Amino acid sequence: MRNITIGDTQKHFEQPVNSPFIWGVASSAYQTEGAHLADGKGPSIWDEFTNKRGKVFNNQTGNDACQFYYRYPGDLEILHSLGIKNFRFSISWPRIFPKGRGTINQAGITYYHRLIDRCLELDIEPWITLYHWDLPLELEHKGGWTNRDIVGWFEDYAAFCAREFGDKVKNWMVLNEPLVFTGAGYFYGLHAPGKRSLGAFLAAVHHATLAQAAGGRALRALVPNANIGTTVSCSHITPKNNYSWNIKAAKKVDALLNRLFVEPFLGLGYPIQDFKALNMLTRYMQPGDESRMQFDFDFLGVQNYTREIVKYSILAPIIRASIVPVSKRNAEVTEMDWEVYPEGLYQLLMKYSSYSGIKKIMVTENGAAFPDQREGAVVQDPKRMNFMDAHLSQLNRAVADGAKVGGYFIWTMLDNFEWAEGYRPRFGLIYVDFKTQKRILKQSALWYADYITANSN
Ligand code: FCB
Repeated sequence: MRNITIGDTQKHFEQPVNSPFIWGVASSAYQTEGAHLADGKGPSIWDEFTNKRGKVFNNQTGNDACQFYYRYPGDLEILHSLGIKNFRFSISWPRIFPKGRGTINQAGITYYHRLIDRCLELDIEPWITLYHWDLPLELEHKGGWTNRDIVGWFEDYAAFCAREFGDKVKNWMVLNEPLVFTGAGYFYGLHAPGKRSLGAFLAAVHHATLAQAAGGRALRALVPNANIGTTVSCSHITPKNNYSWNIKAAKKVDALLNRLFVEPFLGLGYPIQDFKALNMLTRYMQPGDESRMQFDFDFLGVQNYTREIVKYSILAPIIRASIVPVSKRNAEVTEMDWEVYPEGLYQLLMKYSSYSGIKKIMVTENGAAFPDQREGAVVQDPKRMNFMDAHLSQLNRAVADGAKVGGYFIWTMLDNFEWAEGYRPRFGLIYVDFKTQKRILKQSALWYADYITANSN
């Protein structure tokens, strides 16, 4: 029996009978699998990006990452021993289609079958994300997300996965944080494919919006009884003060960060009213697109790490708004320099619950990186436990206030490759010694296991 509690953490949710709350952990293929060119896998945009110098902290790559491709049996045993019964992971598109389309790679398909089968044997429910950023490089050579043909390429890939794995897997997420892969990938150039262009960004946004709905339709048509969602990054937005220009700036940022990929699938179109420049998206629209952008998702995946404080800025082109730097907020920050602001999760859950078209919300990512102290066989991570405790209290509060939230996944299972930040930020419940690939449970893993036990029905 483990005895890790912080204050009054073991609360009980008001849960409707017959609808158990889902507790899980999340991960993604590129960040954990490694084996980047093993067994016929094709290169992805991240394989190319990380192997260029100066793109990632210390020029690190995901070539080996956590070697989850080889080590998944042991890692799933750990989840099982913790009583974690839901596991969100992604399929690497180029492991299945090395060139993005056409020839399939049977070894990649076999790997995912084994992973899924092992989950099911251990009574762990798989939650699959179809696209967590590792686009097949060959498709980027054809323009990637800036080429409208990607909607069809993605739909074919989604349909393939649905046919192949749909008998065993019922929980699906179409995209992971489209604003991040379009914004960081095509506008800021900080993520693969490293492009910096407003036009490329806008095109990518529109095509990702179409692909999101097209992927949903493919899953619906092919997977009986599927539970289909898509995931978005989101941050509660606070204006710097009550001056009208700051409030207006905050509305624009909210439209961009929190509504851009949600309202179109609900049939509300892009949130142009609160951020006029989004009108530029209509350049990429064709007749019929308004309805092609729509899909009746079973759930919205909410991914939240921080909040943003926003003010008017004459210097910021187009948006005329800027984020108040974290150093000026006098707040606790994580290793990513993200403010710790648990109430933001409450605000977001209430906000999304107020859309009548959103049937259910799953928190598909929430977590934090802190400089964890490894002392021999023990990793103490009190800051992560406090972070989780505070966020779960806010989730609890939202449930009590009627939020339509049905589950929560911690980002993440294992310390892993954190994109442009490399291996420095450690988000895992399980510590990974990357020299030896040894896994060590952090205190927070045991804490979460206890929390789940105390709050399961
Ligand atoms: C999210 C990503 C995930 C991870 C966390 C920290 O934006 O979806 O892969 O990197 O941030």
